[in-house]
Amino acid sequence: MNYIGSKIKLLPFIDASINKVVDENCKVFCDLFSGTGSVSAHFKKKGFKVIANDIQYYAYVLNRQLITNHTKLKFNQLKEILPELNNMIIDKRKDYVCDYLTKIEGKEGFIYLNYSPSEKSERMYLTNDNAKKCDAVRMQIENWKTQELINEEEYFFLIASLIKSTDLRANVLSVYGAYLKHFKSRAQVDLIIKPYELILNKKSHDVHNEDANELVKKVKTDILYLDPPYNSRQYGSNYHLLETIAKYDAPEIYGKTGLREYGEQRSLYCLKEHATKSLKDLIDNAKAKYIFLSYSNEGIIPQEDIKSILESKGKYGYFETKYSRYKSDSKRTYTANHTIEYLHYCIVDGVK
Ligand SMILES: C[S@@+](CC[C@H](N)C(=O)[O-])C[C@H]1O[C@@H](n2cnc3c(N)ncnc32)[C@H](O)[C@@H]1O
Repeated sequence: MNYIGSKIKLLPFIDASINKVVDENCKVFCDLFSGTGSVSAHFKKKGFKVIANDIQYYAYVLNRQLITNHTKLKFNQLKEILPELNNMIIDKRKDYVCDYLTKIEGKEGFIYLNYSPSEKSERMYLTNDNAKKCDAVRMQIENWKTQELINEEEYFFLIASLIKSTDLRANVLSVYGAYLKHFKSRAQVDLIIKPYELILNKKSHDVHNEDANELVKKVKTDILYLDPPYNSRQYGSNYHLLETIAKYDAPEIYGKTGLREYGEQRSLYCLKEHATKSLKDLIDNAKAKYIFLSYSNEGIIPQEDIKSILESKGKYGYFETKYSRYKSDSKRTYTANHTIEYLHYCIVDGVK
C-alpha cells in the first residue's frame, strides 16, 4: 500500500542498523506505531515474536492479518455454503474465497451512497461499480462472521484483503484527504479481491489498537521500535475511507470529502506543542533493552530533544540515510528533493 511514512523502502537500512546494535538474544520486537505493518512483518519473518500496535482501526485489521495470523486458513465452516471447498487443498482455499467474493453482485450500501458519484453524492473516491462491490463484499464478510461461518483469523484476512484491494482502485493520490476530479485509469479497473499476504510461522504474536503511550506501560520487549508521525498530517483524516470500510459503522460524515469524526485518534505526535512531551512520556515508560526511533530531519521534534530524551534512558546513537521525498502536493515547490531519515537508538542502561 502507498502509505505516508511507510518504511517498506527503508527496511534494508533499518534492519542493518538494528543488527549493528542489538545482541543475538533478542527475541521480542515491539512496533508501537505499526501502520501497514511493514517493519513488524519483516521482523516476524526473521523469527521474532512481534507485538504490533496502531491507533487506527484499519491498521489494526491489516496487522491482525499480517502479524497475528501465522497458520494456514482452513475455512472449514464455510464449506456449509461453499461445498467446492471440501475437495480443495488448504492452500487454495483462501484464493477461492477471495474469487467468490470478487464475483458477487454489487450492492448499494454506505460506500456507494457516500463515496462514489451516485444519486446522493458527488464524491469520486471509487467508481459506482467498485463502490457497490466494496459494499457487497463488506456486508458478506460481516454476515459470515455473524453466522459463525468464518472464525476471527478468516474474518481479519478477508477484511484486510478487501481494504488493500479497494485502496488499489481508489481515485486518490495515495491519501484520502481529497479525490481526483476525473477517474484515473487505475481507479477504472474492476475491483478484484486479492488475497492478503499470509506469513506462516510457529510463534504467536500480539496486535493492539490503542494509544502507544498507554500500551507502552503494559508491554515488555527486547527491541522497542517507534515510528510515530513526524509532521502535522493526521492519519485519521488522511485515511478516513479505509477506517470506514474496516469498521463499516455508517458514521456521521461531513464536508466535501465525507470525513468521519476522528477526535479520539488525533495524534499528539502531529501537534508541535505536544509531540516532544509525548515522546518523553513514552520513553520514560518503556520497558525494553533497546529503543529505536525512526524520524525525519523535517520532523516536528527537534533533534536535540530526541537526543536528550533517549540519553536519559541509556547510551544514545543514531544512523542516517538519504530518502527521496514523498511529494503529497504536486503544486507545491519543495526546497529539497530528499530528506534525511534517522534511526535514533538507545541501549538502555544495564544492558551492555
Ligand atoms: C509513520 S506511520 C507508521 C508507518 C509504518 N512503520 C509502516 O511502515 O507502514 C505512523 C503510524 O502511527 C500511528 N499513530 C499515530 N499516533 C499514534 C498513537 N498515539 N498511538 C498509536 N499509533 C499512532 C498512525 O496511525 C500511523 O499508522
